[in-house]
Amino acid sequence: MSKLTGTQFVEAMEWRNATKKFDNTKKIDEKTWSALEQSLILTPSSYGVMPYKFIVVQNPELKAKLKDASYGQTQTEDCSHLVVFVAKEKMDVEHITKYVEKIASVRGQNPTDLDGYKKMMISNLVERMNDEQSLKWATNQAYIALGTFMTAAAVLGVDTCPFEGINPSKYDEILGLSGTGWKTVCACPAGFRASDDKYADLKKVRFETKDLIVHK
Ligand SMILES: Cc1cc2nc3c(=O)[nH]c(=O)nc-3n(C[C@H](O)[C@H](O)[C@H](O)COP(=O)(O)O)c2cc1C
Repeated sequence: MSKLTGTQFVEAMEWRNATKKFDNTKKIDEKTWSALEQSLILTPSSYGVMPYKFIVVQNPELKAKLKDASYGQTQTEDCSHLVVFVAKEKMDVEHITKYVEKIASVRGQNPTDLDGYKKMMISNLVERMNDEQSLKWATNQAYIALGTFMTAAAVLGVDTCPFEGINPSKYDEILGLSGTGWKTVCACPAGFRASDDKYADLKKVRFETKDLIVHK
């Protein structure tokens, strides 16, 4: 693996901002988008069980509807790709079975070799969690994917804006998720900042290192 230097990485993190205004004429090229999709696919999750999906919206009519469900935030319409992070409402045996079968096929194992792991996941993720805990847990996993995606985008020179300022139930309706067992968590427009985005050059505001990082 070739790696960035620390300086290059910090430069990308300094460059990244929560983009307030996208240039709606600029689109992410296919190769870069494909790498960004890999950042979503390769993001880690608890037990590796992937209790989420990512809906990528490019359709202008859908984007316009989602803007209304995002309190009018214009990034929704002006971005190149809008990613909606969706969590599985309640973990179930079917999902875990699908995962175990995938592990077995990828690693050339017999699914029964994984019976112990499967039982443990069913016990911890299905039986011991009530509905609220299960959704909260899946939501946490989706947020990790959001972080991975934004960091990957910055390294690739793509702008993003994390979005919690949305109406998740309206998103669910617009995206046809209502009643499917999947729920909108948050969204993230991606694209390229507008040259007249007056927020783009604002200095970053962060507490001092000593207030955020504790060495023991
Ligand atoms: C989970 C989350 C939700 C956010 N929701 C919104 C949002 O709905 N709209 C928006 O413009 N910015 C949103 N932000 C952006 C933050 O305000 C921004 O990240 C923060 O002020 C730090 O600025 P920076 O990201 O430019 O460094 C959100 C950030 C996070 C992490």
